[in-house]
Amino acid sequence: MTEAINLDPLMPGYPFNAHLVAGITPIDQGGELDFWIERPSGLKGYILNLTTSGSGLVFPGSKHETRVNTGDMMLIPAGACHDYGRHPDASNWHHRWVYFRPRATWSEWLNWAQVTRNVGFMTIESRERVQLISQLFKDIDSSRKNGNMLSEELGLNLLEQILIRCREFDQQRPQAPLDNRIHRVCQFINDNLSKELSIAELSSVACMSSSRFSHLFRKQLGIPIRQWIEDQRISLARQLLLTTDLAVSQVAQYLGYQDALYFSRVFRKNLGLSPREFRKSHQ
Ligand code: FCB
Repeated sequence: MTEAINLDPLMPGYPFNAHLVAGITPIDQGGELDFWIERPSGLKGYILNLTTSGSGLVFPGSKHETRVNTGDMMLIPAGACHDYGRHPDASNWHHRWVYFRPRATWSEWLNWAQVTRNVGFMTIESRERVQLISQLFKDIDSSRKNGNMLSEELGLNLLEQILIRCREFDQQRPQAPLDNRIHRVCQFINDNLSKELSIAELSSVACMSSSRFSHLFRKQLGIPIRQWIEDQRISLARQLLLTTDLAVSQVAQYLGYQDALYFSRVFRKNLGLSPREFRKSHQ
């Protein structure tokens, strides 16, 4: 007997095979949607989530526990763990969401300043802005429901507008353009991901002392240099795991990890899955 496929994206087991799905999840205390949303290996696509009323709780009981209130947004990348539900203190948590596979040109918009366990968090400060974003979410939903040939294109276009708005509203991002020396180092890192990179070498590329360089890097990009390098390696690792049939040990070597086991540990720390599990979950 074949198992029935759940066609309601609000209920567990929905396969999320499409490239764009949008909806609203109105969780009320004691209601039928008042259950915990747990997807330890995440989904194949990204989720953008806006709290429209009440409060939710993300990563409960861990040091990453985060409360989200009206106007808070989350960006959950593919493969990142989903672990959230109504905050026990709140009588409801209503949130709008869009599930999507990003376009290649969106990477700049997907790189949020505040990231916890791979999930981006952002507070939209004013009511007008929350309304603007909320309206775009609604428009995606209705464009999908119209279901004509161009509705997915329209939906993606509206989604791109939300992502660009978020980038614009992202208070924690440095507003000034990137310092030329930091930009140079970022390029150097990307060209040399397979090599060992020391702070001494990177600060000499920036023509600065190590301590000034580390400080400026963090100030400009919001995270410590070591973490930035690790993020770049992990994102390349994900890409290699998904788009090539290189063995995990070859991917590790390609990224400058001499020890494949250590690479797997770092990968799991970042994505909650081993490289093998990650590849399997995307096949
Ligand atoms: C629904 C959840 C919502 C979001 C989407 C992708 O089932 O209610 O929070 O995770 O799936």
